[in-house]
Amino acid sequence: MGNHKITIAIDGYSACGKSTLARELATRLDYTFIDSGAMYRGVTLFALRNNIIQGEAIDQKKLIELLPSISISFKKVGDTFRHLHLNNEDVEQEIRNKPVSDHVSPIAEIKEVRKFLVDQQQKMGRLGGIVMDGRDIGTVVFPNAELKIFVTANIEVRVQRRLDELKSKGIDSNANEVRDNLTQRDYIDSTRAESPLRKADDAVEIDNSDLTREQQLNLALELAQERLNSLIKS
Ligand code: DC
Repeated sequence: MGNHKITIAIDGYSACGKSTLARELATRLDYTFIDSGAMYRGVTLFALRNNIIQGEAIDQKKLIELLPSISISFKKVGDTFRHLHLNNEDVEQEIRNKPVSDHVSPIAEIKEVRKFLVDQQQKMGRLGGIVMDGRDIGTVVFPNAELKIFVTANIEVRVQRRLDELKSKGIDSNANEVRDNLTQRDYIDSTRAESPLRKADDAVEIDNSDLTREQQLNLALELAQERLNSLIKS
């Protein structure tokens, strides 16, 4: 697709396949893929390890004080995948586990945490050639992204996908537990005061409930090609 590089923002509810689409799109375009949710998960793991989260209670003051001591980065492991590192430790597996999934939405509600991570996300994307997925990418992180995609899928499809993902990692779970976690996170993510999840006015919505991964990828590639063509013409 030539030398022009655009910024692609992908937002949507939990377990809609956003990261899969973003990663595949980035690979096909030879762009950088950033999973912004992994960064919120990294901060949540830090909070769990440092007793900032006790049951349902979060010691926000302590977390905000300790933010400068948290280093979040993505480092390449093998040929394609970049793993999230928390203070230089590879935590890619641990951030996907249940304790982190259960606590990440309330951590992502904290204004200072969002500012801390959004600043880093904007720096990562300043040269373009990036596909970032999350909840506020098209609305807050990259409001000027050339392509914004809002991904949706029905809840039962999402539950099954998350169950399959957990099973492939050898993690035991059941549909009710997964459905509760997704519903709860969707609620918090879309009703919070700070940067709630919402479709940007200029985002293209893709409901992938009945699409294969390949069909979804092809649709997104067509959209990217359209944006690149109009960039070349202008
Ligand atoms: O995409 P994910 O499920 O790994 O995201 C984990 C949580 O992080 C999700 O419940 C909401 C939050 N999040 C966010 O608030 N903003 C983002 N840009 C990405 C994720």
